[in-house]
Amino acid sequence: MPDPAARRRTAVLISGRGSNLRALIEHCARPGASAEIALVVADQPGAPGLEHARAANIRSEIIDQKTRIELERKLNRLLQSFDVEIICLAGFMRVLSPELVAAWRDRLLNIHPSLLPAFRGLETHRRALEAGVRFHGCTVHFVRAEVDAGPIIVQGVLAVSPDDTPESLAARVLTLEHRCYPAALELVASGRAQVVNERVPIDGASAPETLLLNPVA
Ligand code: GAR
Repeated sequence: MPDPAARRRTAVLISGRGSNLRALIEHCARPGASAEIALVVADQPGAPGLEHARAANIRSEIIDQKTRIELERKLNRLLQSFDVEIICLAGFMRVLSPELVAAWRDRLLNIHPSLLPAFRGLETHRRALEAGVRFHGCTVHFVRAEVDAGPIIVQGVLAVSPDDTPESLAARVLTLEHRCYPAALELVASGRAQVVNERVPIDGASAPETLLLNPVA
């Protein structure tokens, strides 16, 4: 039986800037947090986000193997040797194999810069503006084999302003991401959010309690 007082050992996988990694590290440094960042993994040796791991004295590892099979073999070894229980993808721009996704079912989280299921894939902010949506935001979800899909844990919503550009929208959504990802990890690590029939009730209730709103300033 896992010790309920113990923090869930979490790995964060990044490819670049790592601002969501930083938000997760800051959350886990708080007393009472239900998760700890045990390992940071990057698929790019020069990923700027690795600096956040170093600054916080967190072990980081590079997986830049050429084939997905080799890369995931190394990743699996690392996850095992660091006793990882939860994985957070934070701007990790590789598609994981269905086998790995299945092995980590309901323990593998991703953040995506749109209100899923709208705007899966890349350039979400430009596409949201082109579609003329009034609301936009970000989603933290459990990963399934299909890219940018899976049971939704937390969404952050903001109103689109007529003056928004893809850049301004990206900046405001990113601020929301930094609140949503720690909130979602906390819900999962504490056991408050669990998958039931591909939905994620919080505390067993059918409606999610977490809706973060950022009105237009
Ligand atoms: C974030 O905006 C995240 O939502 C996005 O990459 C960025 C990483 O920023 N992820 C995806 O688009 C995944 N489909 P960060 O490195 O500063 O956290």
